Amino acid sequence: MRRNYQSIPRYVPHEVTGFALNQNESQFELPERLKQEIRNVSLEGLNSYPVSELIALKKSYATYAGVKPNQLMVGSGSDELLAILSQAILDAEDQVIAPAPDFSMYGIYTQIARANFVQPQTEGLSFESLMKTIKEHEPKLVLLSNPNNPTGKMWTKEEIETIAAHVPFLVVDEAYIDFTMQDSFVTELGYHPNVIILRTLSKAFGLANLRIGFMIADAKVIEQIDRFRSPFNVSGLSAAVATVVLNDSDYIKESVRFHNEQRDKLETLLQPIGEMIPSRANFLYIKTDESHVWAERFLDHGIHIRAFSDGIRVSAGTDEAYTHIQNMLNEVNSVENS
Ligand SMILES: Cc1ncc(COP(=O)(O)O)c(C=O)c1O
Repeated sequence: MRRNYQSIPRYVPHEVTGFALNQNESQFELPERLKQEIRNVSLEGLNSYPVSELIALKKSYATYAGVKPNQLMVGSGSDELLAILSQAILDAEDQVIAPAPDFSMYGIYTQIARANFVQPQTEGLSFESLMKTIKEHEPKLVLLSNPNNPTGKMWTKEEIETIAAHVPFLVVDEAYIDFTMQDSFVTELGYHPNVIILRTLSKAFGLANLRIGFMIADAKVIEQIDRFRSPFNVSGLSAAVATVVLNDSDYIKESVRFHNEQRDKLETLLQPIGEMIPSRANFLYIKTDESHVWAERFLDHGIHIRAFSDGIRVSAGTDEAYTHIQNMLNEVNSVENS
């Protein structure tokens, strides 16, 4: 094994019972019309490597994203694309910077690529603090999620442009941008060829099981990074199902409307727990010093959430899940008042 391989954490998925509001997955059920169309996806050609399905998928997603198919690369989730781009861009000992907190996999892929991962020590989501860290360390690559995971905070287009002007490569991970598409950086890509956007079908599109992510960048950058992709990295069946869903332009609108409404209800519901950061994604971050205590309380009522050092992150869920959360809050309230 590689030296220090133990310092790379292992990701072991767990089967959960109850309500999973811990992974920001979609809670909007696929409409019957789409389930019906998906049942008609052809099972001929399972013996051959996928080619035409990927061409069709790129065409559909290019239309959705308003870019050209040659500006796209498809991956087995945006996670795989993070792994590929880290291998493509980074040499050993290069510096990589991300805000704090941000998506935990950024540090892991940096480490796998033998580069050094740095985050601001204080005020890790302030633009000033991030720029100070960038000027100090002169990174080759900056990675940031927008909206930010876990808080839902948005970086403005001006802030992203300033960061892009200071580094060779900037990755803007738009895993949750479908919930607030007018804030996407995709429209500015033409002015910033060193910016790479990541997207996924795992969140608003409700297709986490298919494992489909997209990289959007200047066609020349895609051509360079594509050399680091393994030949047939995405299943043709996944691509064919995803294409059916993408071609139904009403579905994404329905899903976004549902999640935004459910997030607003959740905001009202969770007020008693603590201060909330305004979120445009399908989750909320609530500041509390008792994050683990709250996570246990939720779990006692069948709800899985994520606890961080200074808060909890709860994904927007169904009304049924909210009834359980309300019961839990009533219980805490009655114990505190007894
Ligand atoms: C910010 C961010 N980026 C990327 C991913 C990975 O998504 P996927 O690999 O399912 O496309 C996630 C998943 O939670 C995420 O929150």
